[in-house]
Amino acid sequence: MKKYFFCLAALIAATPVSSYAANVQHGRQLFESICAPCHGSNAQGNVGPNIVDQSVKKIEWALNNVGMMKPVRSSNPQLSNVQNIEDISAFLHTLKK
Ligand code: HEC
Repeated sequence: MKKYFFCLAALIAATPVSSYAANVQHGRQLFESICAPCHGSNAQGNVGPNIVDQSVKKIEWALNNVGMMKPVRSSNPQLSNVQNIEDISAFLHTLKK
């Protein structure tokens, strides 16, 4: 019986839903520490524009091409990991326009 519950718990822990929630949570942490000062705490815009709902592609584009954002990647090496960009994008998709 104990074994059965262990398997069930492992199955629940491995479902995509809970890992998606973890990605969003991680994306929120990255966003708040790196992007929020320029894009606002809810991505509604500040010195930078509203970036609610932005895709991974657009974030990559901005990191490479927006003048004010070029130093952002060099001072935050974790942004070179595409998984982290995906997490930030997943968080931005949870915000309402
Ligand atoms: C130093 C300030 C600053 C920081 C930090 C910053 N940005 Fe930006 N970002 C800007 C500015 C300014 C623009 C707009 C430039 C323009 O329109 O010419 C911009 C544009 C963008 C765009 C393009 C939006 C559009 O509609 O064209 C995206 C996407 C973006 N930023 C994402 C991010 C993410 C994600 C982070 C955190 C990893 C971040 N930015 C951190 C200043 C910043």
